[in-house]
Amino acid sequence: MTILGIETSCDETSAAVVRDGREVLSCVVHTQAQHVPFGGVVPELASRCHVRLLPGIVEQAVEQSGVGWDALDAVAATRGPGLASSLLVGWSFAKGAALRTGLPLFAVNHIEAHLHSVFLDPAAPPPQECFPRVGLAVSGGHTSIFLLPAPDRVIPLGRTVDDAAGEALDKAAKLLGLGYPGGPVIDRLARGRTPRAGIFPEGTVRDAGACAGLDPALCTSFSGLKTSLLHFVQTHPPRSENDVAQLCCDYQEAVVGALVRRCERALSSTGARFLAVGGGVSLNSRLRAALSESCARLGVRLLLALPRHCGDNAAMVAGLAGIGRGVRSPAAFDLDPSPSWTCGEPTAPAANSETGAIRA
Ligand code: KG4
Ligand code: ZN
Repeated sequence: MTILGIETSCDETSAAVVRDGREVLSCVVHTQAQHVPFGGVVPELASRCHVRLLPGIVEQAVEQSGVGWDALDAVAATRGPGLASSLLVGWSFAKGAALRTGLPLFAVNHIEAHLHSVFLDPAAPPPQECFPRVGLAVSGGHTSIFLLPAPDRVIPLGRTVDDAAGEALDKAAKLLGLGYPGGPVIDRLARGRTPRAGIFPEGTVRDAGACAGLDPALCTSFSGLKTSLLHFVQTHPPRSENDVAQLCCDYQEAVVGALVRRCERALSSTGARFLAVGGGVSLNSRLRAALSESCARLGVRLLLALPRHCGDNAAMVAGLAGIGRGVRSPAAFDLDPSPSWTCGEPTAPAANSETGAIRA
């Protein structure tokens, strides 16, 4: 299966052609720099930019793939979760492209696509050999842990009850006057420093009711972390660039520690021997090092996405459809974009949610 993928869930406009779920023939990603002065993504600007750029980006991806439109077997696009107005652009374009070419259409869940991104690395083992596995999707919009026990199942284990890990880093950077997006700056400033223990809380969820039936020990709460940084800065104002860099290191360690501990708990409670990590925050050098150390200790195989596939990209979307995941046409044509499309089978039925992982 050679699949054209389309991704417009947030501020990346992306198209890619992927063969058999893993072989990336082309992947074009445009990251919208226009949001930087606003310190966050402005949905209306993002969707207008998708409208302007997507047709050209799709043509580029097909051309760069070297195979042409005639060689395509399907069109896949992110249907959710994400920003409603951004999703609408890519999803409508994909419907149009599938209708025009007569190709099947796949509706793909964005979070599950992040979990698949690790297999776009040619050095990764085949996905069918990596069960059961724990998956961590960690980005500016999402922080969720899943168990993937078999090819056709994705079971949510935990998630953030408020801010995503990337959001926590972005907000901290804003507070420290370091610009947007904050994750890469914090990563750079923290490098080579030793974190001071006990300054920031580890992201524990105080109200188990907020976890909607998921295990609170596998969920995170990062909003308190941001507040504790605010209090710390008010009582101990940083006096130098060195002080700011040290705070970045301490804060990053709290976020990374929370993520690593939850992965360890998920691995030990499920007995999974593989851990797959995707999403923009998985670029973080400290998180990568801490997970490597932890997996080596536990005898677990760590699967990390290649840096170019950590952030939002269409290759992961085409790749996931290529292994048969998503809602396939004709049912897909009846679907609207779904900004809060749940990934996996909810353990407790949540009102108005749909199961994201449906076998095609
Ligand atoms: O996956 P992504 O490109 O977009 C979504 O949010 O879906 O992730 C963006 C997030 C931002 O919060 C950004 O600060 C964070 O990923 N990020 C990082 C690093 N690079 C990007 N966080 C920590 N360390 C990094 N090196
Ligand atoms: Zn994402």
